[in-house]
Amino acid sequence: MNLSWSHAVIYVRDQDVMLDFYINVLGFAVTDRGPMGENAPDIVFISQDPTEHHQLAMVEVRKDQDPSNSVNHFAFRIERFDELKILHARLQDLPAIRINPLSHGNTLSLYFNDPEGNGIEVFWDTPWHVAQPQGKTWDPALAEAEALAWVEAEFASEPSFEPREAYYARRAQEV
Ligand SMILES: [Fe+2]
Repeated sequence: MNLSWSHAVIYVRDQDVMLDFYINVLGFAVTDRGPMGENAPDIVFISQDPTEHHQLAMVEVRKDQDPSNSVNHFAFRIERFDELKILHARLQDLPAIRINPLSHGNTLSLYFNDPEGNGIEVFWDTPWHVAQPQGKTWDPALAEAEALAWVEAEFASEPSFEPREAYYARRAQEV
C-alpha cells in the first residue's frame, strides 16, 4: 500500500478574503464551486496543479469561537482498487471508526475519522471526470468491474462526464 498526498478541505471564516489571498498571492485558480447540498454553503475548489482537480477547498462555516483546528478532512490517493477493499476491511474491524463510502464519480472514496475525530478520505480514481461537488454512496462489497459499472450508470448522464484524460489534457492547456 502506498498513499500519496492529494488535497485538504478547510473551514474558513471569510471565503472572499481567503480566496483573494490564495488566488492573488499564492497563484491558485478556482477549478469548481457549488453548494454541498440544499441550503448548504458553497465549497470552492482551487488548484495550481493540472493533474489535480483540487489541491485545497474551502467552506465558509467557521465561527470565531470555534477551536483553532479548521480541518475538514485530509485526502490520500490509493493506486489500486484492491487496496481500497483491504483498507475497508481493516477499518471495519475497528468499532470506533465510522466509514462513509462515497463516490464523487471521479473517485471511489472511503471517508472515515481517525481516532481523535479528524476526517480522512482515501480514494481511488475512476477513469472519468465529472463536475464537483457531488457524491453518492457506493457499496465496497462490489468487485472492481462491478464498481466501475455502477459509477458509469450513476454519473454518465451528466453533461460534464468525460474521460479523465480529456479533462486533464484541457487543464494542462489552461495552466
Ligand atoms: Fe475530498
